[in-house]
Amino acid sequence: MTTTLIDRIGLLYTGDPEREELADAALVVEDGLVAWTGPAAQAPDADRRVDAGGRAVIPGFVDSHAHLVFAGDRTAEFQARMSGEPYTGGGIRTTVAATRGASDAELAARASGLVREMLAQGTTTVEIKSGYGLSVEDERRSLEIASGLTQETTFLGAHVVPAGTDADSYVRLVAGDMLRACAPHARWVDVFCERGAFDGDQTREILTAGLNTGLGARVHANQLTEGPGVRIACELGAASADHCTHLTDADVDALASSGTVATLLPGAEFSTRSPYPDARRLIDAGATVALATDCNPGSSYTSSMAFCVALAVREMRMTPLEAVRAATYGGARALRRTDVGWLKAGARADLVVLDAPSYVHLAYRPGVPLVHQVFRAGLLLEEDAQNPSSVVVL
Ligand code: NIG
Ligand code: FE
Repeated sequence: MTTTLIDRIGLLYTGDPEREELADAALVVEDGLVAWTGPAAQAPDADRRVDAGGRAVIPGFVDSHAHLVFAGDRTAEFQARMSGEPYTGGGIRTTVAATRGASDAELAARASGLVREMLAQGTTTVEIKSGYGLSVEDERRSLEIASGLTQETTFLGAHVVPAGTDADSYVRLVAGDMLRACAPHARWVDVFCERGAFDGDQTREILTAGLNTGLGARVHANQLTEGPGVRIACELGAASADHCTHLTDADVDALASSGTVATLLPGAEFSTRSPYPDARRLIDAGATVALATDCNPGSSYTSSMAFCVALAVREMRMTPLEAVRAATYGGARALRRTDVGWLKAGARADLVVLDAPSYVHLAYRPGVPLVHQVFRAGLLLEEDAQNPSSVVVL
């Protein structure tokens, strides 16, 4: 039993609603878990001491929405958008073709590279979706690769209908054989509910099949247009409705009165030059909001939660506190996790020491690498790298 005291924390953002912020603080880690937080002056002794030097500490980011199993590149599509072309989601098929043509080793190397990139930027929990395979075997292997990197794996066979297939038979395949092959490697089922992807009935059918197989539900909802996605997510008890860019008042009410988290993905609006979701409307209505990267090669090729925090503050009128809360505690709620996303006794000791006196600097100093140290389950990232299973984001 080894204890570590992280001492001289200038500002500790715990994420624990009961005591969210603490100045001049310290934190004790025991066996990978947070054992104590409190005023530095009252800190107990420990086997080793880490001096935070007055820096701020936050929980590791929880990135609850990412598409990391893919091959290829969509630079040309991004360039075309920046010259005025709209984003339609049609580029997904380009990535599907590249992904199908890649070996397992290539896909695993790319995905684990992105996970390492995320970890170095303070993300200690990440959800990873399939969705660029769209055949039974390509979806299954995508999820097998993802499950080597995280326990938060999501079956997104219903990303789009692949070229050369009719929608009805594809929905039957997704809800049948594909789901059966993928469910052993997945914790969640997701559907892109959108004009040009899957309609309300198809979404309901696939989510219900997933729920019946024991998976939890999450939905790509109301990204490009208003539609039934958010309502279905709330009705079926999904953990999260993601995007939430085009909402009616009824959608906002449904989110506020259900246990479904509204996950906002401002990297997608940034990279598609689209209007941002109205975070204020959701927060003021009482909805729980999460922020995530949506990291994918088409609509949001960023792995940086800090960038999303800065966007949320500048473009979505979230306060810095609300944005950091959404990127940690909110992400954990969106994954129905209570062991991550906050620094209270008993939680996993996943934390980031920022090279800044306050978490506010994440928005105040956008684009600046402010991560001083990352601890995962109480181990500094560099120590963790000695561990052969270090690539796994627990
Ligand atoms: O969340 N909207 C659907 N899926 C992704 C985009 C995928 C892509 O363009 O490759 C998203 O934005
Ligand atoms: Fe997405």
